[in-house]
Amino acid sequence: MLDFYKNLSGSDWASLIPFGVACAAIGFGTKLILDNNLEFLKGKPSKVNLSVKKTEGKVVDTVDMEDIGKQAVFCRCWRSKKFPYCDGSHNAHNEKCGDNVGPLIIKKKES
Ligand code: FES
Repeated sequence: MLDFYKNLSGSDWASLIPFGVACAAIGFGTKLILDNNLEFLKGKPSKVNLSVKKTEGKVVDTVDMEDIGKQAVFCRCWRSKKFPYCDGSHNAHNEKCGDNVGPLIIKKKES
């Protein structure tokens, strides 16, 4: 087997370069994907919360009904800078990835 490699000429080695580069690119790309925490490629569900209160074990917010005026608009995309309230960031998120998320709007009934 080693004799096979010893008998390769310079042009033979040069012709193997594209194959070697392709193998390296595939290996590097695979490592990059796995190292970048893309759990969906590993069969795990991906994270919804990318930035809200990441130091807390669980994000829980409480809003008193009495503090809601005529209506309150709550974020369901987890991209709002005013979380738990919607700041319209869902529009950029939807444009970026083709999603269709929007806020939860709670209204008081007109009496
Ligand atoms: S910003 Fe998240 S639903 Fe609007």
